[in-house]
This record gives sequence, C-alpha cells and structure tokens, in this order.
Amino acid sequence: MFTIHHVTQCDIPAREALLDEVMGEARFIKTAARLRDNRLPAEGLSFIARAKARVIGSVQLWHVAAGPQRPALLLGPLAVASDRRNRGIGTALVRQALDEARQHGHGIVLLVGDAPYYGRFGFSSQKTQALWLPGPHERDRLLGHELTAGALDGARGLVHATGRFVPKPELSALVAELSAGLIPAAVPRRREASFAPRAA
Ligand SMILES: CC(C)(COP(=O)(O)OP(=O)(O)OC[C@H]1O[C@@H](n2cnc3c(N)ncnc32)[C@H](O)[C@@H]1OP(=O)(O)O)[C@@H](O)C(=O)NCCC(=O)NCCS
Repeated sequence: MFTIHHVTQCDIPAREALLDEVMGEARFIKTAARLRDNRLPAEGLSFIARAKARVIGSVQLWHVAAGPQRPALLLGPLAVASDRRNRGIGTALVRQALDEARQHGHGIVLLVGDAPYYGRFGFSSQKTQALWLPGPHERDRLLGHELTAGALDGARGLVHATGRFVPKPELSALVAELSAGLIPAAVPRRREASFAPRAA
C-alpha cells in the first residue's frame, strides 16, 4: 500500500536519502543533471510515494526548452526503493506527474531513460532526434512525450535549463554543508578543494 503526494520541505531529506540509495553519486554526474544544476524544480510538480511514514519513491519535473522558443519539462530522476519495485509505484509516480503537468498547461515532457520502460507512458525518441543535450548521452535515450498533439513537431536544437535559479542564500547553505561534509559532494574532488581555506 502506497500513496502519492506533492513533496513538502519536510520530505526533502528522506527524498534525497532515497535518491542516494538508489542512484548514488552517479545522479550528479549524468548529463541530465546539468539541466537541474542550481535550478528549482517546476513548482508543484515534485512527487513522492509514501508507505506509512517512509518515502519509497520520487519523481520531479524541471523547466527546460527543447531548442529555441519551445518550453518543455524534463522528468527525473525517477526512483523507487529497491525493496518496493514491481508494484506499480514508478508507474503511479510517472502518471501523476504527467497528469498534473497536463493540468498545468504544459505541452512537452522530455527525459533521458530507457525506452522499454517509458514507452508505456507514451515516450519515444521519434521526435527528439534533432535535439541534443549539454553533454554526452545516447541519442536513443533522449525521449519525448507530447501532452499537446504536435508540440514536438520540428523540434531542433539544444535542450537547455530555463527553471528559476536556487536563491543565493540556499546556495550558500549548500556550499557550507558541502564544505562541512554534511552531504555527499556533487562536484569532482578537484573542484571541492576550492572550498578549502587557502594557506596564508
Ligand atoms: C525504473 C524504476 C523507477 C521502476 O519502478 P517500479 O516501481 O519498479 O516500476 P513499476 O512497478 O511501475 O513497473 C515495473 C515494470 O517495469 C519494468 N521495468 C523496470 N525497469 C525497467 C527498465 N529499465 N527497462 C524496461 N522495463 C523496466 C519491470 O520489468 C516491470 O515490468 P512488468 O510490468 O512487465 O512486470 C525502478 O526500477 C528504479 O528506481 N530503478 C533504479 C533507478 C532508475 O533506473 N531510474 C530511471 C529509469 S530509466
């Protein structure tokens, strides 16, 4: 038994712990992560699955553009706790995210993922062949889903982030937490060193 909820501030630590457990640090290195760096997710479009008090699944949507002048959302990361898989939780999360995105008036959802899984929701690489991401990726894993018929017709160009930036105070807090080792580093070690105090 599980339920789907909008994420609240209180859910974020448990959600991040789940993503760490399911994906590890790789989640920060993926090309799709470049579209989320320093950005806030689309408002009202972050969801968790809960079983009793435990967060067992998560999905988010982010503002991007699919080439020039073509607003879209990026779905991800999608994760379900390893001991709760194959019970329809991932499906329920994706369906809820797509339904609410449609209700908010969005026309396109993109993601980087496995077509054999996401095909069931209507995602395919058919209309994403002339789109590219800001980093290496397998072309057949860039998938699109039209919430409005024809919204991806002729889509061409760089998929780039358009969401609101994380406000500066939150960024400073993040840097402070990184420096103190309270959360896993999302940056290569070489860059992490720049947070260390300089020798006199
Ligand atoms: C992918 C994931 C979110 C699916 O969650 P879930 O709750 O187990 O999914 P559901 O119960 O809704 O669906 C299960 C079905 O999807 C299939 N499936 C799961 N992952 C798949 C994949 N990568 N490719 C193809 N099919 C997949 C299962 O075999 C099962 O098939 P069935 O319905 O024919 O039995 C979960 O496996 C997960 O968190 N994986 C690790 C993180 C990840 O890879 N996320 C991104 C996916 S590209």
